Amino acid sequence: MYRTHTCGALRTEDINKEVTLSGWVQKTRDKGFMIWVDLRDRYGITQLIFDESRTDKAQIEKAKTLGREFVIQVTGTVIERESKNKNIPTGDIEVLVSELNILNTSEVPPFTIEDETDGGEDIRMKYRYLDIRRNPVKESLIFRSKVTNEVRNYLANQDFIEVETPYLIKSTPEGARDFVVPSRMNEGQFYALPQSPQTFKQLLMVGGMDKYFQIVKCFRDEDLRADRQPEFTQIDCEMAFVEQEDILNVFEGLTKHLLKKLHNFEIENFPRMTFDHAMKTYGNDKPDIRFGMEFGELNEVAKHKEFKVFNSAELVVGIAVPGGASYTRKEIDKLIDWVKRPQVGALGMVYVKCNEDGSFKSSVDKFYNQEDLAKWAEATGANPGDLICVLSGDTNKVRAQLSALRMELAERLGLRKPNEFAPLWVIDFPLLELDEETGHYHAMHHPFTSPKPGQLELLDTDPGAVKANAYDLVLNGNEIGGGSIRIFDKDTQSIMFKHLGFTEEEAKAQFGFLMDAFEYGAPPHGGLAFGLDRLVAILGGQETIRDFIAFPKNNSGRDVMIDAPAALNQEQLSELNIALDLKEQ
Ligand code: AMO
Repeated sequence: MYRTHTCGALRTEDINKEVTLSGWVQKTRDKGFMIWVDLRDRYGITQLIFDESRTDKAQIEKAKTLGREFVIQVTGTVIERESKNKNIPTGDIEVLVSELNILNTSEVPPFTIEDETDGGEDIRMKYRYLDIRRNPVKESLIFRSKVTNEVRNYLANQDFIEVETPYLIKSTPEGARDFVVPSRMNEGQFYALPQSPQTFKQLLMVGGMDKYFQIVKCFRDEDLRADRQPEFTQIDCEMAFVEQEDILNVFEGLTKHLLKKLHNFEIENFPRMTFDHAMKTYGNDKPDIRFGMEFGELNEVAKHKEFKVFNSAELVVGIAVPGGASYTRKEIDKLIDWVKRPQVGALGMVYVKCNEDGSFKSSVDKFYNQEDLAKWAEATGANPGDLICVLSGDTNKVRAQLSALRMELAERLGLRKPNEFAPLWVIDFPLLELDEETGHYHAMHHPFTSPKPGQLELLDTDPGAVKANAYDLVLNGNEIGGGSIRIFDKDTQSIMFKHLGFTEEEAKAQFGFLMDAFEYGAPPHGGLAFGLDRLVAILGGQETIRDFIAFPKNNSGRDVMIDAPAALNQEQLSELNIALDLKEQ
């Protein structure tokens, strides 16, 4: 038997017991006549002691050879520690070793395996298996496992059935590029890896599966960010005979269950906000509502004076920064530089200091008097002591810019508290979105989303105005889930494809199977998918999903540990009928 206990288990109650432990050597302290070893496993750290007066000499000699990360097994007696360590649960005891068995040696690890490590991101990714031994990474993975267990418990209790759908499929349109897999047996043909199981879960509804879920990998070839990985996991769900309200209730229930189980956090009904309201008030369809700083539109009160910049802008809009009136000129200049960075893209920023005495000092005092500025303060909800930051320009652009500024300032002001949770539903999304570059409309969610009742006709006259039965679940300023009520009849689906620019033949070639299925009694249905990685990260108080994935890819989509992607050899390429001249690479 390798162990009778784990390294996190022993307490004073165990004193005098003979125990066997196995684990990794965290560190050793050799005082000559005594050697202490911190032995670590997944469950904790237990101090071992080799004492010249009580331990066999041969064992002590062996202990002297131990290095960091050696894998050992020890047998010994639990004794009370002389100097107790109140910081760890096993800190009252130590194990007086009678027998040491070195199970494996280890090279000196390339970084310290401690909570605060000296290893940079790249090296830790290359040796991810060592990184996983560190508490923060280990705890994140354990946390993820707890979340998925709770998800399964909750959904199983609600009669959901977990069904696996295939990975080698045909393109599913979720808006990203596909990862493709060449088929050896079907020359010149390719599978696409699913961007989501969207069409399959709809087919499961046609198949009568009624309440489906799956914790499933999805693959999207898109630009990576802190909250995006090329392969990520969804909690994918679909239900038949439901309306939007039913879906929102079930998955609000699931989210509440997770918040309660994992954080003992209770919350009443989630607020709901229309897409239009979210854009107007926060400049964003995934607003962080843990703090205010809501947008105040200033067209009425700032236009038609002498200030040309505002007069020529489609939208003038501002936010009040709490306590910002005390910013120095230098600090404000830095803020202006920040909004002018290409990533944000504003041309400039107008500001108003709301002095404690009720007066105002602005960067546009030449054009606006105190009365004008008081109206700005009213519109943005600014109090004495605040700073009003104002941007102007094209509506969509300026909203995005001010939203970026709002989030940045909230971060700097410590308003985005990781242990506070503010979920909300964003509803009534537009069905279509105009691609500014091509001038074509594409589905804002995906082509299977149904328009709101009675709005189908609008598609011909004002496609941008059609609202969808689509919703997102937002948590702390992150989109953690999204879904919709689906189209379930062939005619409506054909109309949608037509508006999305598919010819009849193209629609048939790509989605004929779904259209066919709709001819065999498809029930009304709808669903939603959570981004599991995001959900776990946010519940874990962070926004970078990489730390909650055992083996993530870096920002260039590479796994630096296994060194993937990699070239194939000529033999494999020929077998796959891929003509690639390796010499040219
Ligand atoms: P959607 O495309 O909104 O919907 O995806 C659902 C959720 O998945 C997460 N997500 C990601 N997480 C990490 N890395 C990525 N690259 C990534 N892309 C998306 C987000 C998002 O909210 N089939 C529909 C769902 C439905 O209609 O039922 C779909 O996939 O948290």
